[in-house]
Amino acid sequence: MHAVMRVRDFLITEQPSKPFPPIDADASIEEALAKMRDEGVARLRVMDNGTCLGITHRIDLAVHVAVHRERERLEAAQKKIDEDLRKLGAIAERDDMHKRSDDAEIQRQNDISYHRIGLRAIDHIKAAMRAVGKTELQRILDLPCGHGRVLRYLKAAFPDAHLTACDIDRGGVDFCASEFGATPVYSAEDPDQIEIEGEFDLIYSGSLLTHLDREQWTGFLDLFERLLAPEGILIFTTEASFHASRDKTEPPNDLEDRETRVKEFQETGFAYRNYLGHEDYGRTLSSPAWVCSFLERWPALELVSLQVKGLHQDVYTCVKRST
Ligand SMILES: C[S@@+](CC[C@H](N)C(=O)[O-])C[C@H]1O[C@@H](n2cnc3c(N)ncnc32)[C@H](O)[C@@H]1O
Repeated sequence: MHAVMRVRDFLITEQPSKPFPPIDADASIEEALAKMRDEGVARLRVMDNGTCLGITHRIDLAVHVAVHRERERLEAAQKKIDEDLRKLGAIAERDDMHKRSDDAEIQRQNDISYHRIGLRAIDHIKAAMRAVGKTELQRILDLPCGHGRVLRYLKAAFPDAHLTACDIDRGGVDFCASEFGATPVYSAEDPDQIEIEGEFDLIYSGSLLTHLDREQWTGFLDLFERLLAPEGILIFTTEASFHASRDKTEPPNDLEDRETRVKEFQETGFAYRNYLGHEDYGRTLSSPAWVCSFLERWPALELVSLQVKGLHQDVYTCVKRST
C-alpha cells in the first residue's frame, strides 16, 4: 500500500446524510477499509480535529487499492525485464540498429523491436538445431555482428560456446569483444580477404546479403561453406517481396537508380542498388526462388528450411553435408 495515501485523499466533500461511523482523515486506506468491513458499512465520515470534512466511499478506496496493486505488479515485472536486459549487456551508443527517440513510449517500442531480433534469432537457431539433430553448439560465428544485437542473445542462450564476432565496422567488432567476450575479427569488403581461424558449428549472418551484390553473395557463401564444420548450421537472412512492396512508401532518394529496382526484382528475382555515395554497399532484393536456385551452386549446403518473413526478413537455414 502506498504510504502517503490517506483517507483525506479519497474524500467526497458532501456532508453525510446518515450517521456513518467516523474515521480520522489521516487514517490509512487499509484502516478505513477494515473499519467498513467490521462495521458493515460502505461509507465513513471523515473527521479532522472534530470537524467532518465529508465522506469516503468503499468503492473509491477499493478501486485505488486494486489500481495500486496492479501498478506494483507491472513495476515489478518491468524491473525484472530491465534486470534481464541488463544481464544481456549494454547497447552501444553507436549501434545504428537501435533507434533513439525522445518520446518514452516510442523509445520503448524501439527497444522492443531491437530485442525482438535477437530473441527471434535464437528461436530460429533452436529450430535449426532440432531439425538437424544438434543438441549443442561449441563454436559460433556472428557475421556481421554489428554492435551485438544478436550476439548478446547468442551469449545468453549458449553460455559455454566460443563466440567469434566479425564485421567490417571495427567499432562494432571491438564492442562485441569487450562487452561479450567474443573473439574479434575485422572483415573486408572482399570475403576472400577475411582472415578467420577454425571451423564453426553455427554461422549466423543476419542482414548481410541484404546489402550486397551477387559477386559478394558468391564470396560469402564460399566463405561460409569453407568455415562450417561438418553438419554445421548456416542461417542467413534476405529481403524479398515484402520489402519490395514497402518500396513505394519509403523515401525514394537513398539508393542509386531506385525507380527500376522493384521492376528488376519482379522480372529477375534479384535487384541490387548502391546506397547513394557508396560503392559495393547498398540494398538487395532477392526472391526465395532466386535464392534457392543460387544456393544450388553449393551442393554441400543443404537447405533445411526457409521461413518467409521469419524475422523482419526471410530466413534460410542450411546444414553442411559431406558431398
Ligand atoms: C544491418 S547491419 C546488421 C548487423 C547485425 N547482424 C544486427 O542484426 O544487428 C549490417 C552490417 O553489415 C556489416 N557489413 C557490411 N559489409 C560487410 C562485410 N563485407 N563484412 C562484414 N560485415 C559487413 C555492416 O558494417 C553492418 O554492421
